[in-house]
Amino acid sequence: AAVGKGNYRHFMEKELHEHPAVLGDTLRQYLDPKTLEVRLPRLPFDATRVPRLTISACGSAFIAGQVGRYWIEQLARLPVDADVASEFRYRDPPLPEGGAAILVSQSGETADTMAALRLLKEGGQKVLSVVNVPESSMARESDGAVLTVAGPEIGVASTKAFTAQLAVLACLAIGFGRQRRELTTLDEGRLTQSLLEVPSHAAAVLEQDAQIRELAAEVAKARDVLFLGRGSLYPIALEGALKLKEISYIHAEGYAAGEMKHGPIALIDNNVPVIALCPSGPLFEKTASNLQEAAARGGRIMAFTDADGVGPLSRFAERVIELPKVGAFPTPILYAIPVQLLAYHVAVLKGTDVDQPRNLAKSVTVE
Ligand code: AGP
Repeated sequence: AAVGKGNYRHFMEKELHEHPAVLGDTLRQYLDPKTLEVRLPRLPFDATRVPRLTISACGSAFIAGQVGRYWIEQLARLPVDADVASEFRYRDPPLPEGGAAILVSQSGETADTMAALRLLKEGGQKVLSVVNVPESSMARESDGAVLTVAGPEIGVASTKAFTAQLAVLACLAIGFGRQRRELTTLDEGRLTQSLLEVPSHAAAVLEQDAQIRELAAEVAKARDVLFLGRGSLYPIALEGALKLKEISYIHAEGYAAGEMKHGPIALIDNNVPVIALCPSGPLFEKTASNLQEAAARGGRIMAFTDADGVGPLSRFAERVIELPKVGAFPTPILYAIPVQLLAYHVAVLKGTDVDQPRNLAKSVTVE
């Protein structure tokens, strides 16, 4: 049956509001809320024997893969090589014997990712795909597939499929960590519990809509925007920049906050909003000091943080938006939502074709 927009103005707006439900559906598929254990389907490889994992994908799906890399390396101590599919396919990387790969895609039809899949298989790698369309080419040609339960995504800008990909990758990371004995049952319980709380926190983030709309009014006036984050929030800075470019046509860049002083800080003046993803936690002080450097050069800091970060960041930031406080592990899932919402509101203010941005296709099936 055809999917409608319901009471929403755009498919993207509807899909943004589906985050809590989609995250809940996807997590319920791979976590047991009673035992707090990860319940993965049969995988085409044994994570205890794999020497290295390759992650490849395009666009937002690749950004999800980059977060996956942080999680898998951290929780499972398994080395991961991550590269966009259009580079991977021509890079001719040495592939380890007995290696495995994870490909991420909403459509399961992206030409470059399909090419990477075939190359990986020819190279003797076992390929697992994280896909949203069960009957897609990628799901069929992979050695195994783990499905995101995001439902049809119509807006060209990926929203709910992206956070569902993160949810699946988070479950895989915990599962690999358990299998490789890097995590105890206790760790597993703590991590799965923090994931199970994500859907209700996601709903709370969506309630910040009015504040994000106010921020959007500022961002809409800018010609260039910088997104900064560290650790697993660095890929979310990339996601914020990609989404803003895609639908509002404003130039944006995502940077690792610590890399600022190696170049991009030269761009800073009072015309460039700096959107900072800065939750409290182990990297807070470092990120905050990077932001302070930007503020000292006239940069207008607009920060997303939690209750513990509001005080320190308010000393120099022009705007601070408080998000729910969660442990470090699930933060990238949660912080993806406000940056997508921000891009949406900026695009609406700019009057662009939100669901069908110029020059783009929902699924890029040609090289
Ligand atoms: C994201 O908002 C984009 N529209 C785009 O980057 C997309 O994620 C990419 O083309 C990959 O598509 P896929 O997930 O269908 O493979």
